[in-house]
Amino acid sequence: MLNPLVRRIFSPGKFERVLAERLTEPLHVNIAAAFVALFGSFRRKVDFDLVIRPQYAFPILRAADLAREWGYTRLTILEFGVASGAGLLNICRIAENVTKATGITFRVVGFDTGTGMPPPIDYRDLPEIYQAGDFPMDVERLRNNLPVNCELIIGDIAETLPRFLETVTVDAPIGFASIDVDYYSSAKQALEIFRGSPDKYLPLLPIYLDDVGDITVNPWVGEALAVNEFNTENELRKIAPWTMLRARRLCKNAKWIDHIFGVHIHDHKIRTPGGRVGRRLTIDNEFIGVAFKDAPAGERPKAA
Ligand SMILES: C[S@@+](CC[C@H](N)C(=O)[O-])C[C@H]1O[C@@H](n2cnc3c(N)ncnc32)[C@H](O)[C@@H]1O
Repeated sequence: MLNPLVRRIFSPGKFERVLAERLTEPLHVNIAAAFVALFGSFRRKVDFDLVIRPQYAFPILRAADLAREWGYTRLTILEFGVASGAGLLNICRIAENVTKATGITFRVVGFDTGTGMPPPIDYRDLPEIYQAGDFPMDVERLRNNLPVNCELIIGDIAETLPRFLETVTVDAPIGFASIDVDYYSSAKQALEIFRGSPDKYLPLLPIYLDDVGDITVNPWVGEALAVNEFNTENELRKIAPWTMLRARRLCKNAKWIDHIFGVHIHDHKIRTPGGRVGRRLTIDNEFIGVAFKDAPAGERPKAA
């Protein structure tokens, strides 16, 4: 049986992307990637975009690392727009590997109407691309194939989201969301998830915005409009591109990089004066022989 990564590479449309994105990377990166593919750990495979759906693997691993840094042990991660469920199952598999790599455990939740796209409201929903009934799904078959830590919430997000948000607790804050509901009107509803009390979130969490890349998208329609309106309407919650992500990645041509944004919870306890956890920041100075020992937060570090 063919390896799923190899099968995916040769599936329709994907091979062109491999040519445009992967083979245009420097030769030494691709040679190193071949070794990592054969012998590397999960984390190294994420570094080299060798995991199926790197657009989910990178942010889920990053969220888990941030969670550890900020003292959390469990996260809730969400997919808005599930369709046949390939993405949701992929998230579950990635979450399992991230748990092995970091110890952080996950509650995974998918949201969908169960009957495909609702009718578009107007030009802002990009009716030139999507229409009612697109993306049908076999709800029962998908449900029967989900692992125990994954829930599927069926119904219009406008109705299901408020009740779900009440179930999010401080011991499993929201750490990642994929917003893949195609319409402006649906994305606007999905972004309501970030308007709960601040302790329901990581202070900064990565999100994947799927629908910012079509050629008819602009700041006045689709998901981009929903994000702009979110930023205008919320004083202390902001959505912005993930800072300097392309510069930090080894494979710089990957299109998914432009889909990763951060939700900044500026009213989170950790982002208010006195709220930071962890060690005090120090800078050694080898020129005059000053080296600080690790000091717990709040204690004055001693020069060695
Ligand atoms: C492109 S598909 C999602 C694909 C999936 N994320 C994947 O990667 O396999 C978009 C989905 O969004 C769902 N959707 C759109 N508007 C919605 C709404 N208001 N409430 C719930 N689901 C919605 C549709 O039913 C459709 O299945």
